[in-house]
Amino acid sequence: AHQWRGVVEEYRERLPVVAGAPAVTLGEGGTPLVRARHLSELTGCDVRLKVEGCNPTGSFKDRGMTVAMTRAAADGARAVICASTGNTSASAAAYATAAGLSCGVLVPDGRIAMGKLSQAVAHGATLLQVDGNFDDCLRLARELAEAYPVELVNSVNPARIEGQKTAAFEVVDALGDAPDVHCLPVGNAGNITAYWRGYTEYAATSGQPGPATRRPRMWGFQAAGAAPIVEGRPVESPDTIATAIRIGNPASWDQAVAARDESGGVVEAVTDEEILAAHRLLSSRDGVFVEPASAAGVAGLLKRHAAGLVERGLTIVVTVTGHGLKDPQWALREADGSEVRPVRVGVDADSAAGALGLERAR
Ligand code: F0G
Repeated sequence: AHQWRGVVEEYRERLPVVAGAPAVTLGEGGTPLVRARHLSELTGCDVRLKVEGCNPTGSFKDRGMTVAMTRAAADGARAVICASTGNTSASAAAYATAAGLSCGVLVPDGRIAMGKLSQAVAHGATLLQVDGNFDDCLRLARELAEAYPVELVNSVNPARIEGQKTAAFEVVDALGDAPDVHCLPVGNAGNITAYWRGYTEYAATSGQPGPATRRPRMWGFQAAGAAPIVEGRPVESPDTIATAIRIGNPASWDQAVAARDESGGVVEAVTDEEILAAHRLLSSRDGVFVEPASAAGVAGLLKRHAAGLVERGLTIVVTVTGHGLKDPQWALREADGSEVRPVRVGVDADSAAGALGLERAR
């Protein structure tokens, strides 16, 4: 049986890695494109989820990190550094370990999900908690990479975007064509840039007879309290429960605007309430558990649908970017914010059956 070889080996000819350089891989990519039965019924569209939580460290960052780390190792780097709201640091720490490099991560003071922090520590990264937000961390990381012998592995490193574009290749291969619409959350704006590049490259080189493969409209969604692209200016103090996308001055801002405009798409805002409602819907109705930021794409799709802006019959892919276990606390609250309490029962079939709403078979 074919064993998936990871992003670098599967797409080597489309990636900037030198021939013969051994891939630094943990088996990333090849993630499932899952049909969302409930979301499809709700919208009258064919809605598919690109489940990026299935990557080795639980987020889409691994696609870019394998390429960045393969190059860093081939170039003889000894150390890597990144700024992160959590997932990039988890991924960098894991791939640096696989490459035998040391890793420093700069994270904003507080507001990093516990799962992500645990990963960076578990993989032996040096964790620097910076007195500032993500945008401050990124500025600091860039300064360090300029003045010291350390490789920056944020998405401002072109290898990261190159690796992440492979998700678009996988979508086209799975569907046999591009979808009509592609929805995803937008934070530092690397991923929307990467998908658009992937769709564009594949459309140009697919080599199929007839019209070139289509490209989707890109629909990006920011959290309302951290929506610089929507507002058209940097946000000084970004705020949202979706900590992964709590970013006020995205590094790939211009590329995100280009992806939006060239595709005839949109970048819009969704509130924390809308994000949490989508998060709950995904887990309780479609069986897919994601972290809050990852639900922003679904929240945006539902918001546009409610506004009558989604034609029936479209094929829509939504990237859900990170795994629910990264930041599980949100599942333990009811819709009204109160704590979820398990039903306590004794070791007694009748009371357990009662609690389960079962009636005795006759
Ligand atoms: N979803 C998740 C789960 C993320 O971790 C991120 C970004 C995004 C969406 C947004 O992607 O930045 O390419 O627009 N996380 C970065 C990090 C910032 O440090 O882990 P983007």
